[in-house]
Amino acid sequence: MATLRVDASSPDPAIIARAAELLREGQIVAFPTETVYGLGADATSPEAVRRIYEAKGRPAHNPIIVHVADVAAARRLAAPWPAIADVLADKWWPGPLTLVVRKSAAIPDIVTAGQPTVALRVPAHPVAQAILKAARIPLAAPSANLSGRTSPTQARHVEKSLAGRVPLIIDGGPTDVGIESTVVDLSGPAPRLLRPGLIARGDLERVLGPLQGPAEPEAPDAGRPSPGLLERHYAPAAALVLTAGTPSAELRARVDAVHEEGGLVGAVVHHILPHGCDTLVALPAEPGAYARGLYRALHELDDRGCRLVLVETPPDSPDWAAVQDRLTRASR
Ligand code: TXA
Ligand code: MG
Repeated sequence: MATLRVDASSPDPAIIARAAELLREGQIVAFPTETVYGLGADATSPEAVRRIYEAKGRPAHNPIIVHVADVAAARRLAAPWPAIADVLADKWWPGPLTLVVRKSAAIPDIVTAGQPTVALRVPAHPVAQAILKAARIPLAAPSANLSGRTSPTQARHVEKSLAGRVPLIIDGGPTDVGIESTVVDLSGPAPRLLRPGLIARGDLERVLGPLQGPAEPEAPDAGRPSPGLLERHYAPAAALVLTAGTPSAELRARVDAVHEEGGLVGAVVHHILPHGCDTLVALPAEPGAYARGLYRALHELDDRGCRLVLVETPPDSPDWAAVQDRLTRASR
């Protein structure tokens, strides 16, 4: 396994060519996107895509996002490509937006977990763009972490989680957005928000009108709109608990139990210190900057050996929806 460091804004063409060559041979390669690091493979090759599922321990029912260099490449993978997708692509691609559309025959079933739809994204990160252009194939790429765990925002997070399972990691430094793309489903009768992200629901609704979704984590499985969204996800190794104000008796007992066993309790705070923590990471009280630092904070507290992580509950307002979503799922 090798990690090769590149300049995020003008990556070394020789290193990009090496990554593209491995991908064209059907190998998996981890690389930065503007959201989180992805674990890429040739989306047109079932054998290559199988390597992603194996490396991540990803359940076979969880479909993978396909990354392409531009809208023209996206169109070729859709059947049909909806007119409204052009409006969204015009406004937000390249960028942290994923569109679910009906798939063309070019996409094998293993990518979509047998569903007739495919999730497509044109990433903005110069390294992801350079790899897509050099490889000249669509790349299936989920986040480059073990299934269910915290997504990587730095190359060393990928190394920690997938060491020995991926032949090449391209290190382009820390990612900018910090949480995964907004996912919008355009394949049904009405557009649905499947996963909130940096591109806010309100901005999407100005283009699409009122959006359904996303499914509540606790909601019964309503036709599995996005299988990966209904499970414990984004979680650190430590147990994660959201807390605000006076801790419950139950939480105090959990903190005490960790301390009695000589364990560490960590905290992620943006305003007020939770009860009983030994070590903490403070994040900015602005949702974009908080999102950028959140996964780094969770990786960091895991690295410090925390067994329990208390996260100060973020504000209950629309601009915090994507952060709320990730924390709720990580705490289940
Ligand atoms: O920002 C991102 O989206 C990152 C970077 C690497 O691009 N990727 C990412 O992939 O977060 P992943 O696999 O960790 O999350 C993909 C989500 C899953 O929840 C999956 O269920 C959903 O997208 N998804 C993929 N294909 C789908 C489809 N055809 N229909 C509905 N949901 C789909
Ligand atoms: Mg993921």
